[in-house]
Amino acid sequence: MFQFQLTSVFCIFLFAFSPIYGAFDHWQLVLTWPAGYCKIKGCPRTVIPDNFTIHGLWPDSVSVMMYNCDPPTRFNKIRETNIKNELEKRWPELTSTAQFALKSQSFWKYQYEKHGTCCLPFYSQSAYFDFAIKLKDKTDLLTILRNQGVTPGSTYTGEKLNSSIASVTRVAPNLKCLYYQGKLELTEIGICFNRTTVAMMSCPRISTSCKFGTNAGITFRQ
Ligand SMILES: *[C@@H]1O[C@H](CO)[C@@H](O)[C@H](O)[C@H]1NC(C)=O
Ligand SMILES: *[C@@H]1O[C@H](CO)[C@@H](O)[C@H](O)[C@H]1NC(C)=O
Ligand SMILES: *[C@@H]1O[C@H](CO)[C@@H](O)[C@H](O)[C@H]1NC(C)=O
Repeated sequence: MFQFQLTSVFCIFLFAFSPIYGAFDHWQLVLTWPAGYCKIKGCPRTVIPDNFTIHGLWPDSVSVMMYNCDPPTRFNKIRETNIKNELEKRWPELTSTAQFALKSQSFWKYQYEKHGTCCLPFYSQSAYFDFAIKLKDKTDLLTILRNQGVTPGSTYTGEKLNSSIASVTRVAPNLKCLYYQGKLELTEIGICFNRTTVAMMSCPRISTSCKFGTNAGITFRQ
């Protein structure tokens, strides 16, 4: 009896944890729109990037949301100056100065421990950050949007932003909005990629924060 209970407990643990570790089937590259984000959060930077920057690269599974996949694994501070600089360009901690962010690396640490550990053991820490740079560089949302007539400095519906991106990518992005002074503000766009083919795929879980179906105007801030 006692042994049976122990076995059950063990099985429950296996069941609870086995889909998590190494079971990711797609990536979500979450890109921040700095002008909107910084308007709301405040960013102590003299130059706010006028292009999308990385919030995170999230290995995830269609069936279960993945995070904190391997708690014992800690982020190793990045020492290589060139990699630090390449990351700072694309993955800045907007709520800190560049000088502080490069020194503390706290944003990269947080993102790595929460999300990057979900692609272990297939991607080491350095492979994970290299891959993030690679995906970011081939995802030019600003040009995609501009080519559809969607430019910073105007207001659009969520449907318009969604269809503008989807008309090029052929897949559904995951738009995120926050309220600023009672109005919606575009702050983030997630683009999902199939793990095996690395082709773009529709994001399986779409945020409701941009209030689709309400015709609400969303500021795409300049
Ligand atoms: C990724 O693509 C492969 C090959 O087309 C497909 O079998 C698989 O289901 C896709 N994965 C997801 C999460 O869509
Ligand atoms: C914005 O970022 C994309 C992807 O990294 C890059 O291809 C593009 O040249 C950048 N555009 C501008 C105007 O800096
Ligand atoms: C976003 O675009 C995708 C792809 O065209 C579409 O399937 C989806 O219904 C759109 N979502 C909204 C809320 O308009």
